[in-house]
Amino acid sequence: MNKFLITALFPALLLACAVDAPPVYKERDAPIEARVEDLLARMTVEEKVMQTVQRTYGKNMNPNNVERETRAVDPLTGSLIYRSPSPAYRNRVQREAVERSRLGIPLLFGFDVIHGFRVIFPVPLAQSCSWNVDLVRASCAVAAREAKLSGVDWTFSPMIDVARDARWGRVVEGYGEDPHANAVYGAAAVRGYQGDDLAGDHSIAACLKHYVGYSLSDGGRDYHYSDVSPQALWETFMPPYEAGVRAGAATVMSAFNDISGVPASANPYTLTTVLKQRWGHDGFVVSDWGSIQNLVPQGVAADEREACLQAFTAGVEMDMVDDIYARHLPALVEEGRVSIARLDEAVRRVLRVKFRLGLFDRPYVEELPDDERFLRPGDVALARRLAVESMVLLENKDDLLPLAAGAARRLAVIGPLARDSVALLGSWAGHGEASDACSLLDGLRARFGGEVTHARGCDHDGEDTTGFAAARRVASRADVVVLCLGERAAWSGENASRASLALPAIQERLAAEVRRAGKPVVLVVSAGRPLDLARVAPLAGAVVMIWQPGIEGGRALADILSGDENPSGRLSITFPRGAAQQPAYYNQRQPARPGSGGYQDLPAGPLYPFAHGLSYTRYEYGEIALSSDRVTRDGTITASVEVRNAGDRPGDETVFWFVSDPVASISRPVKELKHFEKRGIPAGGTRRYTFEIVPSRDLSFPGPDGLRRLEPGVFHLRVKDRVATFSLVD
Ligand code: NOJ
Repeated sequence: MNKFLITALFPALLLACAVDAPPVYKERDAPIEARVEDLLARMTVEEKVMQTVQRTYGKNMNPNNVERETRAVDPLTGSLIYRSPSPAYRNRVQREAVERSRLGIPLLFGFDVIHGFRVIFPVPLAQSCSWNVDLVRASCAVAAREAKLSGVDWTFSPMIDVARDARWGRVVEGYGEDPHANAVYGAAAVRGYQGDDLAGDHSIAACLKHYVGYSLSDGGRDYHYSDVSPQALWETFMPPYEAGVRAGAATVMSAFNDISGVPASANPYTLTTVLKQRWGHDGFVVSDWGSIQNLVPQGVAADEREACLQAFTAGVEMDMVDDIYARHLPALVEEGRVSIARLDEAVRRVLRVKFRLGLFDRPYVEELPDDERFLRPGDVALARRLAVESMVLLENKDDLLPLAAGAARRLAVIGPLARDSVALLGSWAGHGEASDACSLLDGLRARFGGEVTHARGCDHDGEDTTGFAAARRVASRADVVVLCLGERAAWSGENASRASLALPAIQERLAAEVRRAGKPVVLVVSAGRPLDLARVAPLAGAVVMIWQPGIEGGRALADILSGDENPSGRLSITFPRGAAQQPAYYNQRQPARPGSGGYQDLPAGPLYPFAHGLSYTRYEYGEIALSSDRVTRDGTITASVEVRNAGDRPGDETVFWFVSDPVASISRPVKELKHFEKRGIPAGGTRRYTFEIVPSRDLSFPGPDGLRRLEPGVFHLRVKDRVATFSLVD
């Protein structure tokens, strides 16, 4: 080409380049914020509003969240709750959005991946009894991989609502009654789901829920009013959310409950002042199912349009399934009641998460066959490990357990839970299948051989005692009875509150019946909440709480009963003496008259306290050693304690460090967990556990404004029954 021609064509070439250059938002290498702003500038109000809308796709499996079946997906929709495990369907739907909408904005596919997708791990409450944060994180990474390869980009997890009342069915979904534990596990779950890079091949976005105070529903009744004082909000319920935001959680879900009369889904203080302005969260908030519509029955909005206005302006950027934003936002914008600036800000947040997930650059997922996505041996082994570490040995009289020690034992496995694989999966079991699960009976048979007999005895509830005779017969021919009692899967979870924490009467009667055979009884309890075992535990020599342990529950139980594994689980939630003792959490404040004012007709103290759990070995704790007995505000103290494994088996021991602050301007709980650490100790070995006390973190407390105070004075550090005292000085 000669020089003249090049010069003549140059302007035309430039123009052609400008015309053909992809818009900034489609440029992979452009900064995310530039891509967001470029796209936003191209969008109409309708397109913007649709980004705030979440609908559903696929067959509904959730009896509490029922909606009209979606037949056609509007390609402009912001997000879908995706209920199929098929990557091909997902790609087909995604293609509509990416290839048939004007701007090609990809859909965001969300799903409740709570404790596994296909490999079902123990329920979160159980996981928290492992005190093994690395395992919890690893389980979330496995769930993320399976979900991502099935077309899911976003999970509505972790739930970090601090448990307050075991009657509330949703205690199963969280990490127990301690704020610090929920903060640590919640952050680990976020890291597990999201990986190092949200755009990673196996990463999905996390969602902290239910922000905030939901677990305080009156009397443990789901969806009920919760009276959350500003002090309780900051002291108990906010810390896990702050930790989750710091861990990088991409999204947050607003809750159903009220916070001192202002619903959590229309609360500008929690959603905007704190979450966005104070903590700097730059992802988005999705409402919970129906929580915008609920503002009407909750008595703060006269109608749906008002509810729309309140939720949107308070800081809820995406409407889960109500379709209220789709119906009312355009008019509210038109009328000027919702500003374009607020609409842009909401859409910016949604788009930001989509860009961070890499959806614009890789909107489709690889369509791998099932066996390359699901149930990989290493993932299943992880489920077994976590189940083993989650199980809590509550009682072990005369060292009834472990059973085997080489000798052949005839086991009678009795009870309605013995073969109930659905119960092992628990609530919110994703795409888990009962046929993947190893039942308790099968797990014990595989480990203990042909000497294992079985009788069901009775159903989970009801009055049919016709199976009692067979149960007693089978028990009388065995050396040891393994009695498997507990709850059905559906007895805990959303909208699954119970007025009683007892086992159904028929199961208690079965226990008494089996006991009459005169054989040692190992009671195995599977449930999604602490149960009142006051009447059945005395009938048994050993009691093992297995919770809802997931697909490897049967094998994990066999590991524990046989002694192949030494139990190391410790309770993350108090077992009360029945519902009458609710609330029974350990970190209560001292009564005005210590030791007085309890119930006349109930012993004081719980059945099994927080952090309780036995082992097959014995640990001896030394005294707490402090590097100093004084610390300044900016200084630190190192505390340490030596733990000796005085038995003849290796074990994993968790040391719990509690701080008490006996005098403060706002009274403090009797003790508060500040640190925990689980470590293996060989038989006869010792380990030194340490805790570096950082005053601003470990000795301060929030006021009702959420700002932390650090007050000089005396503090007690507690580990088991050891106490050390030190002072914070100016
Ligand atoms: C309602 C539940 O409260 C929430 O936890 C869940 O994520 C959504 N439904 C979606 O299923």
